Amino acid sequence: MSSRTKIYVCQAGSCRRAGSEAVLLEIEELIQGTKKGVCVEASGCLGLCSQAPNAMAVTDTSELMFTEISDLSCTVALVKRVSGSIPRIDSTKMTRLEKARRLRLRMQAREESKWNLALSGVAEDLKCACSDEDRLELIQDQANVLAAAGLGEEALEAIDGILKEYVLKLQNIPMLRLVLDKAKLLARLGKDKELAALRESVDQLQPCGYRESNTKTQVICILEQNQIINTNVHASQRVQNYAKWHLDGITPVSSHSAVYHFRSNDDMRGTPIRKGRGGRTVWSKTWHTTLLAYVGEANNKEGPLPWIERDYTPISTAQDWEQGRCDILIKLYLEPPGCATSWLHRVSANTGKESSATEFWLSRPMKTMHVPSLTTGTQNINRKHESVLLIVAGTGVVAVPQIMHHASMETCFGGRPPVKGPVSVIYSCRRDDALLISEMANWCRDGFIQRCVVAITDPKPSAAVFPYIKDVDVEASFGEKIPNASSIIKGRLSVNILQAELKKLKEPLRVVITGPEGFNGAVRSMLEQIGVGLDAITILSA
Ligand SMILES: Cc1cc2nc3c(=O)[nH]c(=O)nc-3n(C[C@H](O)[C@H](O)[C@H](O)COP(=O)(O)OP(=O)(O)OC[C@H]3O[C@@H](n4cnc5c(N)ncnc54)[C@H](O)[C@@H]3O)c2cc1C
Ligand code: FES
Repeated sequence: MSSRTKIYVCQAGSCRRAGSEAVLLEIEELIQGTKKGVCVEASGCLGLCSQAPNAMAVTDTSELMFTEISDLSCTVALVKRVSGSIPRIDSTKMTRLEKARRLRLRMQAREESKWNLALSGVAEDLKCACSDEDRLELIQDQANVLAAAGLGEEALEAIDGILKEYVLKLQNIPMLRLVLDKAKLLARLGKDKELAALRESVDQLQPCGYRESNTKTQVICILEQNQIINTNVHASQRVQNYAKWHLDGITPVSSHSAVYHFRSNDDMRGTPIRKGRGGRTVWSKTWHTTLLAYVGEANNKEGPLPWIERDYTPISTAQDWEQGRCDILIKLYLEPPGCATSWLHRVSANTGKESSATEFWLSRPMKTMHVPSLTTGTQNINRKHESVLLIVAGTGVVAVPQIMHHASMETCFGGRPPVKGPVSVIYSCRRDDALLISEMANWCRDGFIQRCVVAITDPKPSAAVFPYIKDVDVEASFGEKIPNASSIIKGRLSVNILQAELKKLKEPLRVVITGPEGFNGAVRSMLEQIGVGLDAITILSA
């Protein structure tokens, strides 16, 4: 490739979850010492989320996509291809980078409270841990995540299993860390006697020298603090950062999708409205929550826990969430079955009947995009724009209500709506799965949406989940309310349609693309052809 090459490494949701932070570090490290003139940068979503982690090498004349950079050998191959020379890497560096990547993956999952994901691969890593220190660290990680997942007893078992293999010594700091974690767990589980015995065992250790004596004093001091904490057992069985919800009803809105109405009076549900000191500064954002789908341990390919984790963007407001109401528009995949949605469909079939006792766990709200910048990272957070274009497809349409909530006094987070400029929407959908049409027509009529283009494609032959729901009459819905602010197109989006809509918008522009991955990638390429740069685009997977 030419000497003016830039490597963009995606740092958006799916890629970050697949270890893209480590990929960025690996490329930065490996590129040193190869041909000069290649620079590496973090980027937003590149539109191929299911093949994460991804990177793209761009020169003035070409673009080369690298997908599934799933281990260090893939990064080495990427650097070799882009720089034209083999990066120098010895076995120590290799081991360090591999370890860093696995650690980063788990940290990312923990940051998102995805406990099942955070535990995936730990058992395998334990089997091939090459030093005692590595094993102890891994067990410590595993126990902390198990405890966060509400499995305190299992966490304790994991710690006890490894403590039995070693003699407790004051110079073994990783082991003392485990002892302290065990004490925290015992305190949370209300196991006073075991806690006293643990303290006793540390008390009996004979320090050798000032340093060990100091360590012993510190450990005893922390152990004593743990005795005071002793919270109730019920709290220790909670899944950390999740709250209990129940399903109040389902409203099918198309042959394939329905709005799920969740309700909760659990105080742990948190709020999307983050306030600053004294409650004065409000950080506006679009937000999502993670649903735990209890598919069972047997066929769970995503980790050892009985659930899998899936993100959803509520269409109800942040104020509704605070009052214990949350409506989520969900497309159900039954053929081939989507793991979480086929489970959801099965367990929600009894909603409203007495036998429906299923509890649903939703995470505390998490940030999807900053508002008003509509960016995911902090790179372009201060970039001002004159207009916003949302290009959405399928269930990606759920981003529209979230953004619109920030344009209205009643639903925004603070006293003033942060989204002021004109917002236009291009929505691509199948005729049998056209979602939120009347809501978008109303926003058009009320002036919150400046223009709305709906591109409708024909239905694909697939089993309808709700065959009795009639297709929405998109033309009539818009035609009656706002004949001039909308256009309905039969077929797919094209460069021409995009170009025509972009001409109506004031620069600088922020474009948000959110839909299935094929759509996201195709729209990104079309926008690039028209000359819209990557830094004006935010891509979200949906
Ligand atoms: C931030 C964020 C917000 C989101 N918000 C929403 C939302 O509000 N509403 C919503 O509906 N979705 C939303 N999603 C998507 C959602 O998280 C799930 O990915 C979606 O519900 C599918 O989950 P699943 O487990 O049922 O499907 P998965 O099992 O993950 O499968 C995904 C797709 O692959 C197909 N598939 C599965 N197995 C096979 C197979 N063997 N062969 C071929 N294809 C297969 C499925 O049919 C489906 O199309 C959001 C995603 C993100 C990241
Ligand atoms: S390509 Fe990385 S998250 Fe979409």
